[in-house]
Amino acid sequence: MSHEAQRLWAQQMLEKLRVKMPHGVKKAQEIAGIPYTVQDGNWLAKPSICWWTNGFWPASMVQMYDMTGDELYLNEARRAEELLDGAFRDYYGLHHDVGFMWRIASGFDWQLTGDEDNLKRTLLAASLLASRYNPNGFIRAWNGEEKTGWAIIDCMMNLSVLYFASEHTHDPRFSLIAQHHADTVQRVFIRKDGTSEHIVCFDPMTGEVLEKRGGQGWKDGSVWSRGQAWAIYGFMISHRHTGRADYLKTAQRVADAFIDLVKDDWLPACDLVAPKEPEIRDDCAAGIAACGMLELYDALGDEKYREAAFNLLTAMEKQHADWSLDTPAIFTHCTEAYSKGHHMYMNYGDYYFIEAVNRLLGDYKLYW
Ligand code: GLY
Repeated sequence: MSHEAQRLWAQQMLEKLRVKMPHGVKKAQEIAGIPYTVQDGNWLAKPSICWWTNGFWPASMVQMYDMTGDELYLNEARRAEELLDGAFRDYYGLHHDVGFMWRIASGFDWQLTGDEDNLKRTLLAASLLASRYNPNGFIRAWNGEEKTGWAIIDCMMNLSVLYFASEHTHDPRFSLIAQHHADTVQRVFIRKDGTSEHIVCFDPMTGEVLEKRGGQGWKDGSVWSRGQAWAIYGFMISHRHTGRADYLKTAQRVADAFIDLVKDDWLPACDLVAPKEPEIRDDCAAGIAACGMLELYDALGDEKYREAAFNLLTAMEKQHADWSLDTPAIFTHCTEAYSKGHHMYMNYGDYYFIEAVNRLLGDYKLYW
């Protein structure tokens, strides 16, 4: 399909978003929290302000503001960004996902508006993430005494806030930490066939690999689709900020494996090698992988990746989008993990679709 036809499709999606999103904003202001999922037609927030997805709602608002210029979205982003300050004050609940929480909400807000408070939030998030670096070459993911040596594939996305901090402050330390982590992931997580582990447990004193776990996928050694999507997009982020060819090559290998496993209907299962029944899909994986493949297209000019991204986006929209005003969210088949939380609405399923629409409209500038 021509780029112009893809742009026209994105324009149609924007018209649908212009109707749906103000309803989501109104409902968000009714709960006085940060939307995560939907219950009985209303947004539901997670009880902890430190919940890892809390940046995606303001980030969706910033993307909508970028596409429309409508202050409604900027005001709602600011409301959520102020609520998120509670996570800095809590501190104990914070984890490696400070990248997700501030890079694309506050960081993109600052890029668009120059708002100083949001620059400070983004740099603070980068400092918190850098402080989780283990000199054996990885960033610690989660808290808890038994997890001091755990790293997860998702963290590849969080590296963006470190690259941002180095570029802004001209201090290479943040970028070096990001690259050391990415090098370890490239060596230890990515398998010969281009698929990825979810969790690797290192000895925190020596860096020795103790165990590899299937985490949110079907089982150890399987292929959690969102993890593959994080790997595609995550390695492209490292490539964009460093220019390193090995990161690009890795992203391409993971993307090729992903395409092979989803190309029958372009609706990723939660785990790409799990049995067909029960059928558990994940729209989040589709949106994340689509954005990563649009990055691959930008880097390589290979239409294969742009087509794959478009196939993922149009399949999820055709089969799983709820544009009605009965619910404040859009995508119906987001999944937390193979073991629980199937076919829900989720703020980040919607976020990646919105980001992809903005990318396809052209003139995109909010790069992770
Ligand atoms: N970062 C956790 C997840 O993808 O579910």
